[in-house]
Amino acid sequence: MYNNNPTLEAIPKIIDPKRQGEIFEQMDEFNPDPNSRKFYIESYGCQMNFSDSEIVASVLGEVGFKPTRDMEQADLILINTCSIREKAEETVRKRLRIFDKVKRSKPGTLVGVLGCMAERLKAKLLEEEKLVDLVVGPDAYRDLPNLVGTAESGQKAVNVFLSREETYADISPMRLDNNGVSAFISIMRGCDNMCSFCVVPFTRGRERSRNAYTIVAEAAQLFENGYREVTLLGQNVDSYKWENPENSEVYSFARILRMVADIHPDLRVRFSTSHPKDITDDVLFAIAEYENICNYIHLPVQSGNSRVLELMNRTYTREWYMDKVKRIYEVIPDCAISSDMIAGFCTETEEEHKDTLSIMDFTQYSMSYMFMYSERPGTLAAKKYEDDIPDEVKKRRLQEIIELQSQISLKHNQSDIGKTFKVLIEGDSKKSDQDFKGRNSQNKMIVFEKKNGLKPGDYVMVKVTSATSATLLGEMVSS
Ligand code: SAH
Ligand code: SF4
Ligand code: F3S
Repeated sequence: MYNNNPTLEAIPKIIDPKRQGEIFEQMDEFNPDPNSRKFYIESYGCQMNFSDSEIVASVLGEVGFKPTRDMEQADLILINTCSIREKAEETVRKRLRIFDKVKRSKPGTLVGVLGCMAERLKAKLLEEEKLVDLVVGPDAYRDLPNLVGTAESGQKAVNVFLSREETYADISPMRLDNNGVSAFISIMRGCDNMCSFCVVPFTRGRERSRNAYTIVAEAAQLFENGYREVTLLGQNVDSYKWENPENSEVYSFARILRMVADIHPDLRVRFSTSHPKDITDDVLFAIAEYENICNYIHLPVQSGNSRVLELMNRTYTREWYMDKVKRIYEVIPDCAISSDMIAGFCTETEEEHKDTLSIMDFTQYSMSYMFMYSERPGTLAAKKYEDDIPDEVKKRRLQEIIELQSQISLKHNQSDIGKTFKVLIEGDSKKSDQDFKGRNSQNKMIVFEKKNGLKPGDYVMVKVTSATSATLLGEMVSS
């Protein structure tokens, strides 16, 4: 199941149940043979997980499985899971209850847990969740056909081996989220950063970068197939580094950005996520230089206070982050910056929380993803610090952050009124099939009235006429 939101952050997004039907109708097109074995897959978590599900679909497709949107028709029910906050895991467990019912009504159906929760809990998941037949970590998807075989023979199947090399570089993902316009490309896996609150280094393993040529080939193929936007994905894309084994030439993130942007001026390039400590001037220059590299950076701050940032092991201070923001606006004046914030991290005082509010004011984020701190077992913070901020205080601080962001987003959007942007049409707007929706370079969604002869994938010039904190409304103008 895929969300169609090409925003760039690698952050958890629970699927919108309203979209399920839509997506699986597209999947049915892949499914003409009623006798083939069928799999059903739900994805939770960040875009990397959604992108991984496309690899899973491809691996299963190779051995004759077809996707279905109806879990009751499926021989294999898969859930690609997220462990980032406790709530994400609770959601998965609730879904497993539903799968349990299906399994009871259709004995022989296999249920597999994939992704970060599989990696975190490993075989323990089999004890905790009796209905689960397969537990498969993020680096073990090539092994799925074997694991399914084992499960079919009545044994439980587990592979949670974390690799130092696996990038699935040669696997061509089965594009299930087909708006046919924008697609994700994973350029690296894992994370070496060890932010103290974060479970990702434990669930995804060591950082490794994918062969640069396979990235460019995948992007070029997408362009050929009519796609007009690719989002390069990684937990920390700015530390992308691939060495060509043949001549030891090193490819940085700025270089890969330019290589993908060079495929065609009509192919937009986005990326996510940027760790503030790693984004270089070279990357900023590439964005400024290329019209088709979008002027949008997701640059999660997490907290605006230097003491808290140190406890979080983010390796930058408030001042350092602010200098980075100044530099971005200097090199790319019309760049939009977005962020992630955590409210109520261990020992955070009221004053320190206010520093988060003031850095939001300083940066003027176009949008943000905002969370209450959720202690994750095994992380550095869980080992070293007490989760001592009461829930109601976390909630209130989060509310203050959300309210401020909503004011800043509104102001940001209102400042676009009267401006004209190049918009890539993604499809019909949510509310009306008389309107198109599309994004500008700054990743803002703009809704405007349709005109004859235009289709998703076309670029149009749109003048913004009004704005809410979430969306811009506009009208097409000739360029
Ligand atoms: N790699 C990205 C973020 C990945 S996780 C980065 O470094 O920015 C996405 C977001 O989830 C994080 O930016 C953080 O804001 C949030 N998050 C991660 N662990 C969390 C936790 N234990 N509690 C609350 N929010 C968390
Ligand atoms: Fe987690 Fe930090 Fe890595 Fe992001 S950079 S995935 S927050 S450890
Ligand atoms: Fe992504 Fe969640 Fe795993 S955010 S990397 S799916 S823990």
